[in-house]
Amino acid sequence: MPRRILVTSALPYANGPIHLGHMVEYIQTDVWARFQRMRGNETYYVCADDAHGTPIMLRAQNEGITPEELITRIGNEHRADFADFLIGFDHYHVTHSEENRELAEQVYLALREGGHIAVRTIRQAYDPVKAMFLPDRFIKGECPKCGAADQYGDSCESCGATYSPTDLKNPKSALSGATPVERESEHYFFKLGDFEGVLKAWLQSGAVQSEIAAKMNEWFESGLQDWDISRDAPYFGFAIPDAPGKYFYVWLDAPIGYMASFKALCQLLGRDFNAFWGKDSTTELWHFIGKDIAYFHTLFWPAMLSGAGLRLPTTVRTHGFLTVNGQKMSKSRGTFIMARSFLNHLNPEALRYYFAAKLNGSVEDIDLNLEDFMLRVNSDMVGKVVNLASRTAGFIGKLFDGKLANELHDPALYHEFVAAGDAIAAAYEASDTARAMREIMLLADKANQYIDQHKPWKLAREEGREEEVKAICTQGLNLFRVLMTYLKPVLPSMAKRVEAFLHFGELDWNSPHQLMIQHVIQPFEPLMTRIEKDRIDAMIEENKGTLPPSIPPTSGGQVTSAEAAAPVAEAKPVIEPGNIEPMGETINIDDFSKLDLRIARIVKARHVEGADKLLQLTLDIGSETRNVFAGIKSAYRPEDLEGRLTVMVANLAPRKMKFGLSEGMVLAASGAGAPGLFILAPDDGAQPGMRVK
Ligand code: 2FM
Ligand code: ZN
Repeated sequence: MPRRILVTSALPYANGPIHLGHMVEYIQTDVWARFQRMRGNETYYVCADDAHGTPIMLRAQNEGITPEELITRIGNEHRADFADFLIGFDHYHVTHSEENRELAEQVYLALREGGHIAVRTIRQAYDPVKAMFLPDRFIKGECPKCGAADQYGDSCESCGATYSPTDLKNPKSALSGATPVERESEHYFFKLGDFEGVLKAWLQSGAVQSEIAAKMNEWFESGLQDWDISRDAPYFGFAIPDAPGKYFYVWLDAPIGYMASFKALCQLLGRDFNAFWGKDSTTELWHFIGKDIAYFHTLFWPAMLSGAGLRLPTTVRTHGFLTVNGQKMSKSRGTFIMARSFLNHLNPEALRYYFAAKLNGSVEDIDLNLEDFMLRVNSDMVGKVVNLASRTAGFIGKLFDGKLANELHDPALYHEFVAAGDAIAAAYEASDTARAMREIMLLADKANQYIDQHKPWKLAREEGREEEVKAICTQGLNLFRVLMTYLKPVLPSMAKRVEAFLHFGELDWNSPHQLMIQHVIQPFEPLMTRIEKDRIDAMIEENKGTLPPSIPPTSGGQVTSAEAAAPVAEAKPVIEPGNIEPMGETINIDDFSKLDLRIARIVKARHVEGADKLLQLTLDIGSETRNVFAGIKSAYRPEDLEGRLTVMVANLAPRKMKFGLSEGMVLAASGAGAPGLFILAPDDGAQPGMRVK
């Protein structure tokens, strides 16, 4: 029985161009979807532009156009980029659509009906000049920890501290420069905690990678908090039913956009939408995402689906980020490469192959090393695969009018190639395309060794050995055909040209079971050319300083967007890309000795009313007790801290905070590519008050 599969990639924001960081995911998903189609499974791959939210509204304002005009223009650019990278969506929609509005309302009303919506008044920063509430990322000021200027309201790029905007010194609206004021507003919350049981069971069912399941368990430990799903006008989004002036937060209707895109496709094809989304659906639903948005897809989204009486995803498959030449993509180095710019200089299938060769189905980051990219593509695709055809097809064309032999020269070798198909299929299924490409290249090496050993070019010059030449080249082309079958999910355009050249039907996963003999092929045309270094250099040059202005940065699994960051940061620090903080400036021993670091016992820890990130700690340092507000709420439950020893800066000048006086600072580690926050603790035997030197 063929499987019935709906597959999605994350919806890119309609406020900026697609770059190579985005392409990791679309290539990974597209390869998987194409593989499923080749296996004969009923597969639908849908996506859409994610068109709502504050950044899009503001960008349209800046450009002096309507948000609708902006999202139409960007949507067209996205479609063109994807099409040219051979991403074979069955449908590409936009979240600002009637289908999505209806579905978002339907889901919300079902949640409300089920008692899963709470309404509460919260206090939030408000820009009195712009007359709007400010998301954390739109407030800038000096870091409360290190004093660095011009930091966003949720975290410091200089010292890595996370805090709430109210902690910033000299806060200013990033939009108007005005000093924000606090204002009350009624917000709508989704009671995530109602779904703890459902989520735990789902996470343990094998629906997500083990790294992700472990990560999500940490959230359970710190307790599932209500999720704020409303935003005040002005906002570009859908109005919340029965709530004048309130809009759905972009992340509420974004995943519903998967449904909306599929619904639009069902309308075009006359398919049954409910068969895929109903509670007891026997179809499969696969989401491919980047690790920065795992939280939304493995907690909020399944909870929403469950609350709305819909099916849960079969699998959420998460990938890591892209680095270029071993570093975070950088505008100044020219490695923040736009999809369009790559296409201007290089062959999209080269990138598809390289990413496929790197992705192994895990959450690890992958690196695009441009030198390695060139060498690998030239060696594998041109040197091994294309070469196999070019060194055999010529003889068949010239000497035999394109006619292949009546039987294979080495059937055992051919069967070895056919037998490898199952392992390669298993690797594709698991998105371990790195393994699939490795297996395929081992076969390609064998095929080339076979040709090297039999030297048709030599035999062709000898009298009376034509039949041998024909048999050897027929063998070579049959092996080539098997390789191209296995590579077709990755190289769809080249596979099409090969199908035309071999003239032996479309390649699907069963094709290798049929021998290509007693058959006439078409003249051979070059299938791919080598990558030249000057093309790469030209591309890098083109990308130097070309990042379009946008406040705040757009996402795509590389830079966390303002809107995306907000709810994650409220609950837990964002899972950061694998960047290690650079070392700070050198200090001398006198500087160091100014620090009075003390062992402290946490005698009391409690929540702070109205603070998203802070815990209030009472610290015993032997001679006295200190009151400290620490931004560690995301990582620790107060009751788990009580009694523990840690290290504090005891001679930090006391700071007056909104919630009281903070008399020092506890030390905690974060970064280095691993999520989480870790307070420092001494070995056994240390006593409160001991000096740390
Ligand atoms: O992070 C992002 O780029 C979001 N636009 C992804 C949305 S995925 C889905 F939920 F819609
Ligand atoms: Zn700082």
